Amino acid sequence: MKIEGKVAIVSGASSGLGQACAQRLIARGCRVVGLDIAAPRWTPTTGSHDSFTSVVANVVDGESVQAAHDRAIDRFGHIDIAICCAGVLHGERLVGREGPAKLDAFRRVLEINVIGTFNVIRFSAAAMMRNELTEESSERGVIVMTSSIAAFDGQIGQSAYSASKGAVASMTLPIARELGAYGIRVVSIAPGVFETPMMQGASEKVRQPLLEQTVFPKRFGLPHEYAELMEQVIANPMLNGTTIRLDGALHM
Ligand SMILES: NC(=O)c1ccc[n+]([C@@H]2O[C@H](COP(=O)([O-])OP(=O)(O)OC[C@H]3O[C@@H](n4cnc5c(N)ncnc54)[C@H](O)[C@@H]3O)[C@@H](O)[C@H]2O)c1
Repeated sequence: MKIEGKVAIVSGASSGLGQACAQRLIARGCRVVGLDIAAPRWTPTTGSHDSFTSVVANVVDGESVQAAHDRAIDRFGHIDIAICCAGVLHGERLVGREGPAKLDAFRRVLEINVIGTFNVIRFSAAAMMRNELTEESSERGVIVMTSSIAAFDGQIGQSAYSASKGAVASMTLPIARELGAYGIRVVSIAPGVFETPMMQGASEKVRQPLLEQTVFPKRFGLPHEYAELMEQVIANPMLNGTTIRLDGALHM
């Protein structure tokens, strides 16, 4: 799919990977609606003055996510691309010093990372299905979800996070199969460690071993490198129904 002239909804657009994707899409001539629980602290430096709008919403809330989609359609007419980057990280042992883990934290991670992603794409896909196919474009939409290498190589304490990112990877194929009939592709990206506020908050004790296990390049990923893969997923019509690792060969 050609990005220029399209409309995208990006969850988690106020920070990190989502912000990098939103900025990349705008730079390529796409109009973007950012959906995040926090207001963005950035404004586009490229694109036309009306190429970005943001909605403050929780991805787990059905009504506000629907309202964000309605806003995108009112303002820009249609939705062609959905990028799901909203997510949270959490570490906790099953049984810690204080006894069995509390269920609330586990539930919250699953709720935001899995149900939040599903909640966004159900409205995005419904909007995409209404897009007309044209001679220039044989696709109605592209959905990119964010998994993690923790889906496959989860570490001690990552049961909730790994389960949530495994669920994103696992739902990629069935949703791609369902939406293929409408000309909509679905791909997940499983990043290794990326330099975003999420990982910048981690202690050196957590960061250093991860850096040592990264094969090459021996550094963490940069948000623009995630956005480059997102761009390739949108551009390449044969990418569908899969989860792509982007990790410098890091196996945790
Ligand atoms: N940074 C990494 O190393 C890394 C690695 C693998 C996967 N990921 C995944 O990439 C995605 C983006 O993470 P990031 O590194 O950019 O983190 P980040 O913390 O910089 O950005 C996450 C964004 O999601 C938003 N968000 C959180 N909960 C929300 C909710 N309930 N509703 C709406 N918005 C919400 C936050 O406000 C924030 O703007 C996440 O799903 C994360 O799990 C990140």
